[in-house]
Amino acid sequence: MASIVFEGVTKRYPDGTEAVTSLDLTVHDGELAILVGPSGCGKSTALRMVAGLEEVSDGRIVLDGDDVTKRSPSDRDIAMVFQNYALYPHMTVAQNMSFALRLNGTSKADTATKVREAATTLGLERLLERKPAQLSGGQRQRVAMGRAIVREPKAFLMDEPLSNLDAKLRVQTRMEIARLQRRLRSTMLYVTHDQVEAMTLGDRVIVMRAGRLQQAGAPGELFNSPANVFVAGFIGSPAMNLVGARIEQDAVVLPFARVPLTRERRAQLDLRDGEPLIAGVRPHAFREVASGAPATSGDSATFTATVEVLEALGAESFAALPIERGVVDDARLDELAGTSEAQHGMLTVRLEAVSPAAVGQPLTLALDGAALHLFSAADGRNLER
Ligand SMILES: Nc1ncnc2c1ncn2[C@@H]1O[C@H](COP(=O)(O)OP(=O)(O)OP(=O)(O)O)[C@@H](O)[C@H]1O
Ligand SMILES: [Mg+2]
Repeated sequence: MASIVFEGVTKRYPDGTEAVTSLDLTVHDGELAILVGPSGCGKSTALRMVAGLEEVSDGRIVLDGDDVTKRSPSDRDIAMVFQNYALYPHMTVAQNMSFALRLNGTSKADTATKVREAATTLGLERLLERKPAQLSGGQRQRVAMGRAIVREPKAFLMDEPLSNLDAKLRVQTRMEIARLQRRLRSTMLYVTHDQVEAMTLGDRVIVMRAGRLQQAGAPGELFNSPANVFVAGFIGSPAMNLVGARIEQDAVVLPFARVPLTRERRAQLDLRDGEPLIAGVRPHAFREVASGAPATSGDSATFTATVEVLEALGAESFAALPIERGVVDDARLDELAGTSEAQHGMLTVRLEAVSPAAVGQPLTLALDGAALHLFSAADGRNLER
């Protein structure tokens, strides 16, 4: 297997759109790396450049130690499963899957074994004699994956390969991909929009925004220590609450609470008293407390707000509570964090399934200083990294 290296890779389309800007990234040999980011941020473009389907405007792509920037797609030994895959309509499932093997001269017996194994992995055994037109969208997508798997290429590129599957099949196929990747120890760069997929499937998650790399790290690192406010808002579901705040002595003053910081933490923050910042709190970081608790005690603060929306999911619930706008204006927050109007002036809070919370009723919550993520109001970077 092989590493995939982007060295200062930029892609400008003929119409002037810069889809990828100076991308430096290494997907290590045998690694499963997940590429995420909003629609249009350049994920498919990045993959297509590795596959050789798009020319690179600047920089190099190095595969398994070889500069493949100018090499044709067929000379790269890479299998790509597309967002919009295409199967050969006149061939059966089995023929579609074995096509590449027949071309490269693999023996009939070996081909049959590989196709059978891949079909079993993907739950396609009973569909091998069908034509694509006789398959559902999800089944076709699995055939497209099977076609990539049987080739045993140096690296796999997958562009939302599960997007057409129903929820149950998606979970099942996701686990199969993870197992397969571990068994083959294949290098895989995998694009998804799915938060759960991003956080559970990969060794590393790579976040892009508007053609630029934001952060690459283990899922836990991105979740616990996002490099900037954009990654903070993008990773995690429901999204982290982000509000304008200011620092005042040893506390962060949010629109709804004054949350104390430890002395050590305050000392390490390079902020003057009164200076604005963006504070982030995950919905899971709040605790319900009895009303009448003191506003500040030790390292935590309590506050009360009225429940406007309550979503009970069975094992837990989420409440939306209206709050005052913070000191950073909404447009600036949107620019830095990629948030939208709907996310302002509302706090999303996770509650236990048995919560007494009710729509229209006040709810008292506690928040620990340790749960606050602090970002620069000037450029959005994490102030504590
Ligand atoms: N052939 C093209 N010519 C001009 N611009 C293009 C072309 N293909 C893509 N783009 C633009 O490049 C940017 C990146 O597109 P890309 O398809 O890589 O996004 P993506 O991250 O895969 O998005 P999605 O999640 O919607 O699939 C977008 O702004 C898109 O409009
Ligand atoms: Mg895409």
